[in-house]
Amino acid sequence: MSKFPSEKPVLVTCGLPYANGKAHVGHLRTYVPADIFVRSLRKTGQEVTFVCGSDTHGTPIVVNAEELKTTPGELVKKYHEHFDHTFKDMGVIFDAFGTTDDPTNHERTVDIVNRLIDNDYVYPKIIEIAYCARCDRFLPDRYVKGTCPHCGEDARGDECDQGCGKHLEPGELEVPVCTICGGVAEYKEQEHYFFKLSEFKDFLLEHLKDLEGTTNARNYAIGWIKKELTDWCITRNLEWGVRFPGHDDLVVYVWVDAPIGYISFTEEWAEANNDDWEKYWKGDSRIIHFIGGDIIYHHCIFWPAMLKGAGYSQPWSVVASGMLKIENKTFSKSRGYVVWVGEDYLEHGFHADLLRYYLASYTSHTKELNFSWDVFQEKINSELVGVFGNFLYRILLFAHKNYGEIPAGNIDQEVLDKIGYTIEDTTESMENYEFKKYVDTAMSLASFGNAYFQSREPWKLIKEDKDACGKVLANCIQIAKALVILFEPVIPTKMEIAWEQLGMETDIHATPYSEAMVEIKEGTRLQKPSILFEKIEDDTTKKMDNISSERVRKAIEKECGKKEETKMETKENITFDDFMNLDLRAGTIVKAEAIKRSKKLLKLEIDLGEDIPRQIVAGIKATHDPEQLPGKQVIVLSNLEPAKLCGVESNGMVLAGVDENGDAILLAPEKKVAPGTRIG
Ligand code: MF3
Ligand code: ZN
Repeated sequence: MSKFPSEKPVLVTCGLPYANGKAHVGHLRTYVPADIFVRSLRKTGQEVTFVCGSDTHGTPIVVNAEELKTTPGELVKKYHEHFDHTFKDMGVIFDAFGTTDDPTNHERTVDIVNRLIDNDYVYPKIIEIAYCARCDRFLPDRYVKGTCPHCGEDARGDECDQGCGKHLEPGELEVPVCTICGGVAEYKEQEHYFFKLSEFKDFLLEHLKDLEGTTNARNYAIGWIKKELTDWCITRNLEWGVRFPGHDDLVVYVWVDAPIGYISFTEEWAEANNDDWEKYWKGDSRIIHFIGGDIIYHHCIFWPAMLKGAGYSQPWSVVASGMLKIENKTFSKSRGYVVWVGEDYLEHGFHADLLRYYLASYTSHTKELNFSWDVFQEKINSELVGVFGNFLYRILLFAHKNYGEIPAGNIDQEVLDKIGYTIEDTTESMENYEFKKYVDTAMSLASFGNAYFQSREPWKLIKEDKDACGKVLANCIQIAKALVILFEPVIPTKMEIAWEQLGMETDIHATPYSEAMVEIKEGTRLQKPSILFEKIEDDTTKKMDNISSERVRKAIEKECGKKEETKMETKENITFDDFMNLDLRAGTIVKAEAIKRSKKLLKLEIDLGEDIPRQIVAGIKATHDPEQLPGKQVIVLSNLEPAKLCGVESNGMVLAGVDENGDAILLAPEKKVAPGTRIG
């Protein structure tokens, strides 16, 4: 049974791009398949609304604006326009493309948060928030980096981006460092508001059981929920964002107001089109989210719980795309492994449809996709040019030259059957989000067409029996018609031209799949066809390869330069008095033990000649065996303000350097001295 068309209203959304940088091929891995899916649903007769917009809040945008000496508002405006036109240039056409800073979204977010508060799902709690004394500010999310408490990798304030991928709550990060000034941060107490996510465990498990979409989304989410589900801090100390109701100094966490954008963009669409948004968000609907594989947690856990808690409809399907690699290297902007949609692709004159074809047909949606210019060239040349383009061009050229119109002739049952099965198979693949399978199946119809033409040898037949030859051509044109309809979702602009070449006067974008079985009309005038797909030459891919490697080379150079700089960096002079304020002492380690939750930290007890040994936390776990430490002498800064690291109090700092391998080396007195000996 096909799932579409359905009686229920269908809404498709795409993860909102942060309006904080340019569009790259990684983005397209979500947006192009979503657009293909929407176009395909429309071809089944399904009415669909397709919305997206810019994610405009959150700390990265504020940090970036600060660095660029502009305002978040200006920064966001620039990238919002950039994404809007880049998507259009790529043929990704949304019914609404808003921003999360629109008044509609502020209002909808406040409404939802108030409902959560009214329904008793929000409570205040005093927590420790990273704070930078030097910058005199709290450090939400990306303002702070440090060590992930779960896996020990370097992590950002709100997410372990290098390691286990877990969402991090404020205060969880170990060894916090301020990203603005690079200084060590401390934890300070502050009241924040929490969403009772933990109460939604049973609901979520039930919800996920029926969730449609790709299995990666469902499985990850179920795994996470079974492990643990902690309440979620939904306020931040920021100016930029949606105000938390009743608190002028707090905004809601960006992951609250960003997905609510899906609702407010639907409202904006409804407003502009005299339609109803509640049929999607308050009624029995099919909401389908296309997202990157890195934000499954947010879409399968936070988001449905929030919707449920506020009394809105929940997602019906979550489709998560796999990772992207560039020339076999993990995608990274800073390391140069990036392909910008504008300057690396469209601006070199490549057609948007070729990239759409490549992205859809390279591999299955949930698998890793390795962008490579060589593979791009190979796929375009052998498939689009060699099979599909070749078929269209040769039959239309032949028909135009010998008939000037669509010749008369019944369509063979074999051909109609083949088209029918192809449509069945492709629409089934589409329902299962198997874009590659869809494209491959459609392409096999083109191969069938080529074989049909070849085996009937019309170039001979034309001399012997023009009518019989005409029938062969009519069959080929019927196949071509089906192909153009099938390929429209994937390569929409090219198929507009092909549709015209077939003498069709209707709008290919509004043509349903069922039209593929409708027999072509003899006598329709045919124009002289043009070549739809040009071969990509070796020189071209070589040139593009060079651009990529040049970028990587520059990134490495820059990275080395940075290291060089930090090595040479000297600090401003301090006064003698400043120095005398440091209370440096020699001490003897009496006890050392690992802090279980941390990969980097050891808890030390150090005899400084005081009544009881001092407890000091040191980041030397990776290099020092706690069993070997007792008895060793070290130098301690004893009057450093106490701080908590990973929940453990630390009353001072053990002086250590970092060698060229990045290993910690402890400073020690030249010979054994009495604990507490003054240094300086
Ligand atoms: N901007 C986020 C990202 O790029 C995605 C936001 S999706 C939404 O990771 F659901 F929050 F809207
Ligand atoms: Zn700072």
